[in-house]
Amino acid sequence: MRALIAHFHVISASVWLGCVVTEAMFERALLGRGPEFERTLAALHWRVDLGIELPALLLTVLSGGWLFFLAPHWSAVWWFKFGAGTLAVAANLACIGLVRLRQTKADAGDWAGFARVDAAQHRWGAVVALGLLAALGLGVVLHA
Ligand code: HEM
Repeated sequence: MRALIAHFHVISASVWLGCVVTEAMFERALLGRGPEFERTLAALHWRVDLGIELPALLLTVLSGGWLFFLAPHWSAVWWFKFGAGTLAVAANLACIGLVRLRQTKADAGDWAGFARVDAAQHRWGAVVALGLLAALGLGVVLHA
């Protein structure tokens, strides 16, 4: 049972990480190419957040919580991993809120507001990536 949940946890975390990388790539491709592209980008990012990123994030947290419930332990590595995972979750939820706000700015044609929210969203995105990579590395250490 535990092995099954651990596999599920790694798969959902991988989907989450893959989604973050894919989003970074389409952000790079479409940003700065004018209002039409940026409006499309804002809508696309919001749809991917709702359809893929948020479900993958929630499944990772649920399966991680379940794993901990099955075999609680209190090593330093575990606490660092928990910290990194929680940081990634919190930063990603902030990012999702900013992506939605950016879309409303784009739809309203408020391009100064769009640029402000966009910059904040990319800063939080970098925190998400760091948290995910740290949680992944520490998860591999826990597994070893
Ligand atoms: C807050 C979110 C998370 C929680 C609560 C959590 C919790 C856990 C727990 C309890 C374990 C089992 C550790 C053990 O007893 O050996 C685990 C393993 C693991 N986690 Fe997470 N995790 C979270 C997020 C993540 C993320 C974001 C990643 C990767 C991007 C990740 C990757 C892994 C890996 C690779 C393992 C090893 C699985 C194995 O033993 O086969 N986790 N996690």
